[in-house]
Amino acid sequence: MATSPSPAIFLFLWFLCASNFNLGLCTLKVIHCNKNDQQALLVFKQGVVDPTGLLSSWSIHSDCCQWSGVQCDNITGRVTGLSLPCPYYDYYGNYYDKSKCLGGQINLPLFQLEFLESLDLKENDFKGIDLCPTHANHNLSRPMSPQECEKFSKLLNLDISYNNDLHVGDLLWIFHLPSLKSLHLSGIDLHIQNHWVRLMTELPSISELRLRNCQLGNIHPPLGWYVHSSSLQSLDLSYNFFDSRMFKWVSNLTSLSHLTLEGNHFRGQIPDTVLRLRNLKSLGLAYNEFNGSIPEWLGQYEFLERLDLFVNLFSGPIPTTLGNLSSLIFIDISANLLNGSLPESLGKLSNLEELRVGNNSLVGVISENNFAKLWSLELIDFSEINIVFDLDSNWAPPIHLKFIHMYGAIMGSIFPSWLYSLGSLHYLNVSSSKISSIDPDKFWSLARRTYAYDVSNNLIGGDLSNVWLNSSWIDLRNNKFKGGLPRLSPKVAILNLANNSFSGSMAPLLCHPMNRRNKLAFLDMSHNQLSGELPDCFANWQSLVYVNLGNNMLTGKIPDSVGSLSALQSFHLPKMNFLELSLRPLKIAET
Ligand SMILES: *[C@@H]1O[C@H](CO)[C@@H](O)[C@H](O)[C@H]1NC(C)=O
Ligand SMILES: *[C@@H]1O[C@H](CO)[C@@H](O)[C@H](O)[C@H]1NC(C)=O
Ligand SMILES: *[C@@H]1O[C@H](CO)[C@@H](O)[C@H](O)[C@H]1NC(C)=O
Ligand SMILES: *[C@@H]1O[C@H](CO)[C@@H](O)[C@H](O)[C@H]1NC(C)=O
Ligand SMILES: *[C@@H]1O[C@H](CO)[C@@H](O)[C@H](O)[C@H]1NC(C)=O
Ligand SMILES: *[C@@H]1O[C@H](CO)[C@@H](O)[C@H](O)[C@H]1NC(C)=O
Ligand SMILES: *[C@@H]1O[C@H](CO)[C@@H](O)[C@H](O)[C@H]1NC(C)=O
Ligand SMILES: *[C@@H]1O[C@H](CO)[C@@H](O)[C@H](O)[C@H]1NC(C)=O
Ligand SMILES: *[C@@H]1O[C@H](CO)[C@@H](O)[C@H](O)[C@H]1NC(C)=O
Ligand SMILES: *[C@@H]1O[C@H](CO)[C@@H](O)[C@H](O)[C@H]1NC(C)=O
Repeated sequence: MATSPSPAIFLFLWFLCASNFNLGLCTLKVIHCNKNDQQALLVFKQGVVDPTGLLSSWSIHSDCCQWSGVQCDNITGRVTGLSLPCPYYDYYGNYYDKSKCLGGQINLPLFQLEFLESLDLKENDFKGIDLCPTHANHNLSRPMSPQECEKFSKLLNLDISYNNDLHVGDLLWIFHLPSLKSLHLSGIDLHIQNHWVRLMTELPSISELRLRNCQLGNIHPPLGWYVHSSSLQSLDLSYNFFDSRMFKWVSNLTSLSHLTLEGNHFRGQIPDTVLRLRNLKSLGLAYNEFNGSIPEWLGQYEFLERLDLFVNLFSGPIPTTLGNLSSLIFIDISANLLNGSLPESLGKLSNLEELRVGNNSLVGVISENNFAKLWSLELIDFSEINIVFDLDSNWAPPIHLKFIHMYGAIMGSIFPSWLYSLGSLHYLNVSSSKISSIDPDKFWSLARRTYAYDVSNNLIGGDLSNVWLNSSWIDLRNNKFKGGLPRLSPKVAILNLANNSFSGSMAPLLCHPMNRRNKLAFLDMSHNQLSGELPDCFANWQSLVYVNLGNNMLTGKIPDSVGSLSALQSFHLPKMNFLELSLRPLKIAET
């Protein structure tokens, strides 16, 4: 039996409230979930297949404001949000097994959840949706029509994206949600839906519409249809196999500020009708087949912050007019067929944070002028282009520069000296760029200040026996390093030294006194000339997951300490006569 609160507590609460001199300010009342809301949520629960027991907290014995995924208004106690997404990716970026996600039917009586503003069920495995489940097993005095059901709905945000097998019916139910501002249906097959265009034009408050990968194909608005919307600001129609005819009507959505049309079948030139969208802040046209030159008129967008044109067939020079995009923060024109040099006008973009021009046929001299006002620059991608750096030796690079992609850049054999002056770098990738000459002290000092350092596939040499490494990810493979092994700070997690000429014992690297919090997980030292016995120092390296020592001249037996590595999944050994293989079941491969 529940005991009622003592009178003393009430008196105390009353005193607290009254002492505000304004009883209206008193918010100390205990919030309880509304009965109608609770009932509606239980109807929802009945339709759900819940393999992991996510809804086990949903019991009539507890307050529904405490149920997982339920948000209540903290004054009225009415349910305002329901958020039960299934995380799509696991830690390693793999697809989640959908069998762990919620399935079944979305039966949610919106007429009962009168104050619901936000419904987020993305990335689950639901098969059907009914926001007016009159036939559901619940206590309704009379059945209602969908119009009646939904017209009072205050729903603002609806996200049911990536429920890949969800049947959404004829979509007409969405038109009964008059307050809807944001609608995400990405990943749902809408290819037989002729009504989808009306979502843009007939939902009075719609501001954001995401229909990525909905197999819309070429369902265009019927001839004579007048496409217009004064509320739509953000539209994503990526990966739908549209062709350029769609610009005829998309260009009429003049309220748009964000337009994403990646991965369609656009060819030829970008139609200049797009210029009617004067308020654009971002334009995404990546992964299409646009050809010819990048139009000069793109320079006219006063508010454009983000321009994505990567992976198309654009050729010719980069237009100098892009230097007029004074609001630009991000530009990616990589992986095209652009030639000529990097225009100096881009050096005027004082808000620019990311400059991605790699994988083109650009050839050019890069001088201080190219960086003149790039005070905000954080990232450059000059991969796979021809560059000659002509920078004064006391020129100071942009102070925020932290990410440098120069994979496969053709820039001569000398490591660009301006990089040495970067204070703290997060990421450097100069892999496969034919570098042979470095200033060793500065080079390893820069490496220690860098989180990820990839200088693989070059011609860099030198003895590392007096070098210590401090990057979380360091890739020195396929170079000409020789002599003894470097030492590692506990921070190093991924170390690839494969295919160099390191020689001598592994002891300097493995047995150097270390604390036990070493993060090293991946170690590849294959294809070197390491010799001697494997030292019994593996106990220092409890994070090891992958070890490759193949193609060396190591001898002796596998040391006992290898057996203590509890995270180990793979241990590749050189071809040799190991006397003892007393390991727990492991994937052991001989190379
Ligand atoms: C009630 O919710 C509002 C906004 O949702 C929040 O700012 C406020 O701090 C909450 N008050 C209490 C007492 O939790
Ligand atoms: C329907 O109402 C009855 C009594 O009013 C109650 O016992 C029952 O739990 C209700 N069913 C649902 C699904 O809310
Ligand atoms: C686009 O708008 C123009 C008027 O600005 C109109 O003549 C044309 O029919 C519209 N096109 C579509 C497809 O709605
Ligand atoms: C662009 O592609 C179209 C076919 O889609 C072709 O007719 C045209 O010649 C191409 N233009 C250029 C400059 O490559
Ligand atoms: C845009 O840039 C071009 C070339 O950089 C320049 O000639 C032109 O005057 C600029 N237009 C505006 C409106 O600033
Ligand atoms: C360069 O771009 C082409 C397509 O334009 C692509 O096939 C290739 O993979 C890209 N190279 C890299 C390293 O990204
Ligand atoms: C760029 O390529 C075009 C052909 O696509 C060629 O006519 C032009 O001369 C090239 N320009 C430069 C600077 O290489
Ligand atoms: C090693 O890395 C840590 C963490 O990133 C950093 O704080 C430290 O300054 C680095 N050491 C040197 C000598 O650069
Ligand atoms: C460097 O770039 C290449 C090519 O894009 C990529 O394969 C490699 O993983 C990159 N290295 C790092 C450390 O990201
Ligand atoms: C080793 O590196 C050289 C270049 O230094 C390269 O030609 C060779 O293919 C690499 N071998 C292996 C097995 O990766």
